[in-house]
Amino acid sequence: MVYQNIIVEIRGKVGLVTLNRPQALNALNEALIAELNDALGSFESNPEIGCTVITGSEKAFAAGADVKEMAEKTYVESYLGRFLDGWTRIAETRKPVIAAVSGFCLGGGLELAMMCDFIIASETARFALPEITLGIMPGAGGTQRLPRYIGKAKAMDLILTGRMMDAVEAERCGLVARLVAPDRLLDEALAAASKIAAYSQPIVMMAKETVNRAQETSLAEGARFERRLFLSMFSTEDQKEGMKAFIEKRKPAFRNR
Ligand code: CAA
Repeated sequence: MVYQNIIVEIRGKVGLVTLNRPQALNALNEALIAELNDALGSFESNPEIGCTVITGSEKAFAAGADVKEMAEKTYVESYLGRFLDGWTRIAETRKPVIAAVSGFCLGGGLELAMMCDFIIASETARFALPEITLGIMPGAGGTQRLPRYIGKAKAMDLILTGRMMDAVEAERCGLVARLVAPDRLLDEALAAASKIAAYSQPIVMMAKETVNRAQETSLAEGARFERRLFLSMFSTEDQKEGMKAFIEKRKPAFRNR
């Protein structure tokens, strides 16, 4: 696939996707989402890649779904055309994905960032779900994911008023994992991604899957799921290698087995 709305690079064991529609502050149109899915799919099937970083520009991670593309849609058209279905696939990526966010991260942009496993933000980042100002509500998971990140009270505040939240507030309320100076953003995200990519890939993927269970199930059920996967890890060569390396005081050499 030829990419026209994203730039795709490979940095060591890390896949890097830069959203690239500067003329529209990286507004997410259907073509961009299709390209993003394609890029994530190719990283997913590439055994050399262990983690992905999605980033935008200094001014905008993404200013939302593309309003100009959406404005004239009818219900039947969007229903038959499965509008927004492609977005959900991003959340189903099994290898870890980090969002490196600078500038505007609004609407569908924030929904995309929340589909990633965690957000590293520049001090310039600003977050909002402003859909209410357009006569709609969030439609790509925002009403469900935001309360899980930051709790009901603040999620209601943001979704019902459409107000913007700065990066400090976003970190304080748990939306953002790490806050960094603007010129450190990409380095910090790539360093985190490289660290993850150096671990055992199947173990990392199982850890991601297990943490995600916490969002979707009861504590007892989630703990049972964790125990089952934890025990299964003793059948991997990487568990043997990781523990042996610790005892022998050397770095482990994981082989994804
Ligand atoms: N869709 C389409 N185009 C967009 C866009 C969007 N979400 N956000 C910005 N743009 C375009 C603008 O129309 C403008 O294009 P033109 O030069 O052709 O007019 C260009 O990007 C630059 O934007 P501004 O001139 O508005 O830049 P600014 O610095 O003055 O303002 C902003 C920046 C506050 C982010 C403002 O652009 C804005 O409010 N954007 C819309 C944000 C929004 O409402 N997002 C939610 C979308 S709905 C959604 O996401 C639904 C969902 O849940 C799936």
